[in-house]
Amino acid sequence: MQAVMIERPGGPEVLRIVEQPRPRPKAGEVLIRVAAAGVNRPDVQQRRGLYPPPPNASEILGLDVAGIIDDVGEGVDGQYVGNPVCALVNGGGYAEFCAVPAVQCMPIPNGLSFIEGASLPEVFFTAWNNLIWLARLEHGETLLIHGGTSGVGMAGIQIARHLRGATVFATAGTEEKRAVCEAIGAQAAVDYRGAWDEGIRALTGGEGVDVILDGQAGANTQRQLDLLKYDGRLVFIASHQGSTAEVNIRTLVRRRLTITGSTLRPRPPAYKGRLARELVDHVWPLFEDGRITTRIHKVVPFTEVQEAHHILDENQQIGKVVLAVDPALAATVPSSGKRF
Ligand SMILES: NC(=O)c1ccc[n+]([C@@H]2O[C@H](COP(=O)([O-])OP(=O)(O)OC[C@H]3O[C@@H](n4cnc5c(N)ncnc54)[C@H](OP(=O)(O)O)[C@@H]3O)[C@@H](O)[C@H]2O)c1
Repeated sequence: MQAVMIERPGGPEVLRIVEQPRPRPKAGEVLIRVAAAGVNRPDVQQRRGLYPPPPNASEILGLDVAGIIDDVGEGVDGQYVGNPVCALVNGGGYAEFCAVPAVQCMPIPNGLSFIEGASLPEVFFTAWNNLIWLARLEHGETLLIHGGTSGVGMAGIQIARHLRGATVFATAGTEEKRAVCEAIGAQAAVDYRGAWDEGIRALTGGEGVDVILDGQAGANTQRQLDLLKYDGRLVFIASHQGSTAEVNIRTLVRRRLTITGSTLRPRPPAYKGRLARELVDHVWPLFEDGRITTRIHKVVPFTEVQEAHHILDENQQIGKVVLAVDPALAATVPSSGKRF
């Protein structure tokens, strides 16, 4: 089968389409014939040599796919063959076939294409894991999401707004991106350059927010803490601006703050399976009635994978970039599949 591998750490030019053996589904796994694969920031970090795959994970790039189940491993019911699914995968998504634990598969929400299905898993798993499970976002709380038009940001704004009734603020780098944040449910969005914290403080009548979701960290960390209310939670999902920071512990002690963070990829299938079930139960119905949407910035043919990474390198995207691995199938809307 054809798959995308990294020749050496570097820019998009190090991505190569090469012939690789078709994976065989192990016990508890299914083999997916991939129609479309999501392109995510961690793929860019992996390409740059900054985010190596965990032990036993595929060296092939790609963390989420949509396609059709082609085969099943031991212990998985053969009736699933032929079912359309989207799935969070442990690597190996940028390929014609991908093996994945069955529990990480979900039906594609009714009415969405394979392209739209492939845009969902990584970002919705990450948003749910960090906002609902880790930050324990409560009904009616206030939330700040940095990078509001990232895939994770757009998922997070919508989950917080529609499933927690939260008041959501966001940061984004351009006027156009800030307008998109507001169109999908943020009360207001500000530029993350300059006095973004003063902007959010003013918007909250001086009160600050209950939860902050951030992928930048570094020198801004104390400013994040200063913006949290009593019992506030700061959740890191990356540290692109620096993995160390000096913070005033007294701020934490006085206001009972929590700093936490997570990475999804090394979690075992059982954990990801629980996340999948919660998404299907609570978020998928909102796609079906149109309250939650996915925004596809660009569909890029598989053979032009370098272009897909170039878009992310330049932060041009608003929403998701998706690779059409099988372009004819990718654009179609499948009939509803069985639930795992
Ligand atoms: N921990 C996990 O399990 C996990 C899993 C997936 C992703 N992630 C992280 O989640 C974040 C989003 O991932 P993604 O794939 O959805 O990203 P993405 O679509 O590639 O978007 C990232 C966005 O970050 C914005 N940005 C750049 N510099 C910024 C800054 N200094 N402050 C605020 N925003 C900034 C950019 O938009 P502007 O034009 O607004 O700058 C860019 O569009 C990334 O940090 C990624 O590493 C973590």
